[in-house]
Amino acid sequence: MLNKGCKKYIPFSPVSLPDRTWPDKVITKAPVWCSVDLRDGNQALIDPMNLEEKLLFFKTLVEIGFKEIEIGFPSASETEYEICRALIERNLIPDDVTIQVLVQCRPHLIQKTFEAIDGAKNVIVHFYNSTSTLQRKVVFKTDMQGVIDIAVEGAKLVRELTEQEVARTGANIRYEYSPESFSGTEIDNAVLICEKVLETLGATPENKVILNLPNTVEMSTPNHHADQIEYFCRHLKHRDCAIISLHPHNDRGTGTAATELGILAGAERVEGTLFGNGERTGNADIMNVAMNMYSQGVDPGLDFSDLRRIREIYEKCTRMTVPPRYPYAGDLVFTAFSGSHQDAISKGVKYMQDTDSPFWEVPYLPIDPADVGRKYEPIIRINSQSGKGGAAFVMQQSFGYELPKAMHPEFGALVKHACDEAGRELQPQEIFDIFRREYLEIKYPYNLKSYKLYEENEAESDETVVHFEGNLRFRHEDHFISGRGNGPIDAFFKALRSVGITDYAFVSYSEHAVGEGADSKALSYIQLKNREGKTFFGVGMDGNISLASIKGIICAINRATGEKKKQ
Ligand code: KIV
Ligand code: ZN
Repeated sequence: MLNKGCKKYIPFSPVSLPDRTWPDKVITKAPVWCSVDLRDGNQALIDPMNLEEKLLFFKTLVEIGFKEIEIGFPSASETEYEICRALIERNLIPDDVTIQVLVQCRPHLIQKTFEAIDGAKNVIVHFYNSTSTLQRKVVFKTDMQGVIDIAVEGAKLVRELTEQEVARTGANIRYEYSPESFSGTEIDNAVLICEKVLETLGATPENKVILNLPNTVEMSTPNHHADQIEYFCRHLKHRDCAIISLHPHNDRGTGTAATELGILAGAERVEGTLFGNGERTGNADIMNVAMNMYSQGVDPGLDFSDLRRIREIYEKCTRMTVPPRYPYAGDLVFTAFSGSHQDAISKGVKYMQDTDSPFWEVPYLPIDPADVGRKYEPIIRINSQSGKGGAAFVMQQSFGYELPKAMHPEFGALVKHACDEAGRELQPQEIFDIFRREYLEIKYPYNLKSYKLYEENEAESDETVVHFEGNLRFRHEDHFISGRGNGPIDAFFKALRSVGITDYAFVSYSEHAVGEGADSKALSYIQLKNREGKTFFGVGMDGNISLASIKGIICAINRATGEKKKQ
């Protein structure tokens, strides 16, 4: 059924360009960006933005660094007109930002548009008419000459009104023309109509006209779109009098790719929106294209370092949402659940710290999350698929606990068990709680009630000896223990032996500080081995580093006994 259904679609017919040059090129420089969020994006919203929302969005676009912003379609409605006036009259447009206004090639709408921009310093008047084969056939019922006439008449009026306005106010007004549905237009017709418009507007290399080539409905693979752009650039007579602009939509889900290949094919400017909002499946996402450039070492000239805030403003103003797996901006895009990914990320982060590498060399993370404001993001999140290093990474990143490598399998297994029991992902605090219960709070069957540690210099050997004396509770009975050794750990082990605790051998020790200043504490990780060769970790925390180690030993022994206090 479905297979038969597809026969009703006419396949796209690509332009012939066997000597295309774009496939061997790379993007080395950012295009001129033009945000169309406030027009194309806005016009696709269930509830269009109100004045306050548009003003907030405009301010955000300026902060990101857009220098060309299409603010609306002022002749389309009173609201659109008022928004344009508010921006101008409230002096909200920085001197280095050009506002762009869209209008169809219809005289009364063009007139109204010029009234709307009165008093603005820098304006692009963007006029358009549809040129596609399909629209000529089913909408306008006219031939190509009819469509050319509409464009030329529109261009004449735009030029006349511009010249009047410039003479009157000295405004800086530039022109943009779009053969709407460019990609559905026979390519030579698209070239022809644009040449006529350039001539009518009097374009020169000094006063270039923006020729915007909309992929109004995306209907081909991105390589064929790139062929159309390269063909257009090569065949346009007055190429040096034009700035070639892309305006990709995303019907096939390849808007980003089409934009990138279009740049390779010769385009110098890109129109799009944040997060790809726009009609149907949206416009090209400028953030995505810009961040792709950034990830290749090319400065996009736009600042997405606070992407979270930009996303919040976008979601608030448009009432759209950014999905969790959306490139660069989604909640989950810097998160790894799978064990092997977590392990590689931890190693990459450690490699960067150890080598002080000036480059970003972390597997599975195409960019440093901090570059888009995701500093405190839990890169590694823990569910039942997570590996042994994942929980240790969370302890390190979120709480500053540096569990020794040999401890990762033991702690990882405890966390995995808890995930399986909960049947869901565990949050960092829950992982910490497991650690606290399992290592820091375990005081049974052994519990050190009091102790004394002191040093003595042995006169004979002139060596310093450490003495340990203490009161160790076993289950419910207290025992005095004492021992001497070459350090606190050694002295404590000897003291244990004095009361017959001889089952455990010392394997490894590591320690570090947590917290700062007066609140700083020492954390000791002690690994012991029992008679069967099974190892257990214990953790001790104390302001006194020696006591932290002793607590760590008691913790490891308590865990090895497996005894739990009866409630
Ligand atoms: O998608 C499109 O063709 C447009 C034009 C009006 C530029 O938005
Ligand atoms: Zn569009």
